[in-house]
Amino acid sequence: MLKEKVETALNNQIKEELYSSYLYLSMAAFFENQNFSGFSNWMRIQAQEEYGHAMKIYNYILERGGNVKLQKIDAPKGTWQNQLEAFEDTLKHEQKVSKSIYDLVELSFAEKDHATNTFLHWFVNEQVEEESTALKIVERVKLTGDNKGALFILDRELGMRSTAK
Ligand SMILES: [Fe+2]
Ligand SMILES: [Fe+2]
Repeated sequence: MLKEKVETALNNQIKEELYSSYLYLSMAAFFENQNFSGFSNWMRIQAQEEYGHAMKIYNYILERGGNVKLQKIDAPKGTWQNQLEAFEDTLKHEQKVSKSIYDLVELSFAEKDHATNTFLHWFVNEQVEEESTALKIVERVKLTGDNKGALFILDRELGMRSTAK
C-alpha cells in the first residue's frame, strides 16, 4: 500500500505533468499561428510525452492499490514574444519539474518507500534529457539571431521529430 503522504505527492506530480502537457500544447498553438509548423510539431509531440509521464504515475498509483485523485490544472500562458522566450520558459519549466521530482525522491527515502524510489529513477533520468534538450534548442535559437533563414531551417528540423517516447 502507498502511504498517504506519498500518494498525495504522486497525485500532485500527475498534475505537474498534465500542466506540462497543457503548456506545450499552448506553445504548439502559438507557433502554428506564427506559421512555424516545425516548432509547433515539436511542442505537440512534447505535450504527448508529458501526457505519457502523467499516465506512468497514474498507472503506478493504481498498481500499488492507491487512489488517483486528479487535481485542477492551471491555464498556461498563451503568447510569447518569440521562439527564444518560449524555449526559455520551457527550460525554466523543466528545471522546476526536476526539482519537484527530486522532492518526491526525498520523500520516498524519508518514508522508506523503496518501490516508489525505484519507480522515480526513470523520471530522474528523463529530466536530465528534458533539460538538456530544452537548453540545446535555446542555444540554437540564440545562434539564429536575426537570421530568419536560419530560424526556418531550425523549424524544418524540429518538424522532423516524429514520435513521443
Ligand atoms: Fe514530464
Ligand atoms: Fe518535461
